[in-house]
Amino acid sequence: MLINRIAPPSCSSFLQADLDEAAKALSTITRTIANLDPATREHCQRLAIQGKAFGEFLSLSELDIHTLMWGGYLHDIGKVGIPIDVLLKPGLLTDAEWEVIKQHVLIGEHICYSLFAMERVIPLIRHHHEHWDGSGYPDRLAGEQIPFLARIIQILDVYDALTHERSYKPTYTHARALEIMAEETAKGWYQKELVQQFFAFISRERGDWGLESLFLDEPLANGCLVSE
Ligand SMILES: [Fe+2]
Repeated sequence: MLINRIAPPSCSSFLQADLDEAAKALSTITRTIANLDPATREHCQRLAIQGKAFGEFLSLSELDIHTLMWGGYLHDIGKVGIPIDVLLKPGLLTDAEWEVIKQHVLIGEHICYSLFAMERVIPLIRHHHEHWDGSGYPDRLAGEQIPFLARIIQILDVYDALTHERSYKPTYTHARALEIMAEETAKGWYQKELVQQFFAFISRERGDWGLESLFLDEPLANGCLVSE
C-alpha cells in the first residue's frame, strides 16, 4: 500500500483518473436528465439492466456486455440538450418537433466524445435509431453497417418504449408490443434474427413461452447466437 502511494503515476492510474472524470461528468448529466424527466431516467436504468441480461443470453463477451450496460444507461443522454417544451410536450409531436428530438443522438455523441472511457459506447449513442433497411437516422446506415451493439440497444429500447407510457403514445401490453415489433421487422426496420433472439429472451424472462411464436414465421433456433 505504501509503495502504491509513493510510486510515480502508472498508466493504469491515468486510466483510472480518466474513468473517474468520465463518471463524474456523466453522473452530473444523467442527474440533470433525471430532474427534467424521471421517465427517461427509469427507461435508461431498465435498459442498462436488460442490456446485461440480453448480452448474457446472447453469450456476448464481458466487454460487450459492459458496453451494452453503459449504452443502455447513456443512449438517450443527448436529451439533456432538447428544449424542455419539446421533450415533455404532452400529446403528438409535429414533424418539426420530431426533427428536434432526433438531434439527441448527435448531442449525446458530442457530450461523450471527449470521454476516453466512453469510446466504445459512442456508436451505440449515435446509431440506436438507425433501421436495418436504411430508413433510420442520423446516417441512414443499413444492415451490418449498423454497429451490432447499437442494433441490440435499439431492440431493447423499442420494447421498453412500447410497454411503458410515453406522452405521445399509450402503454401497450407485452403481446401487442411483440406484434408491433414483428410488424416493424416485416417492414424492414430491424434485423429479423436479432428480433427472434429477443423474443426468445423476453419470453424466458417473463416465463411465458409460446406467445412469441405467434409473431414469427419460422420456429426459433434454440441457443442460436446471432452472428457478428
Ligand atoms: Fe433515443
